[in-house]
Amino acid sequence: MSSRVVVCSGCCCGRVDKGHSEVPVDYLKKSWEENNLGSRVELMISGCLGPCKMHNVSVLVTESDMFWLGDLGEQKHYESLVEWGKEAARYDQSEDLPEILANKRFEPMNVKDDIINSITINRKVKND
Ligand code: FES
Repeated sequence: MSSRVVVCSGCCCGRVDKGHSEVPVDYLKKSWEENNLGSRVELMISGCLGPCKMHNVSVLVTESDMFWLGDLGEQKHYESLVEWGKEAARYDQSEDLPEILANKRFEPMNVKDDIINSITINRKVKND
């Protein structure tokens, strides 16, 4: 496994009752299954990752990097996560982000080490 898509569904992300957009967890799980991605790219639905103000947050993790994405409020954002997962599965990993996701990148501040450790694939990951 060389890549991981981490989708936050914690105390804020996806909480419609707090005025945030829904995180389509069932859609993501179904898409992973339909495209047989699970053995090559892990889909991880996580609790709070820390930067709640950037809701909804996801992180694309490769062996050497991580891409933090925020403000994922539309279905097309999640469809792009699936497309990235398919690309990463096809080529073992993908460092290229589609534009729709590249526009959502942010640099997280003060994310706790245990959170970083729980989502990284190995210790070579840069936390930038
Ligand atoms: S609930 Fe998603 S970052 Fe906190």
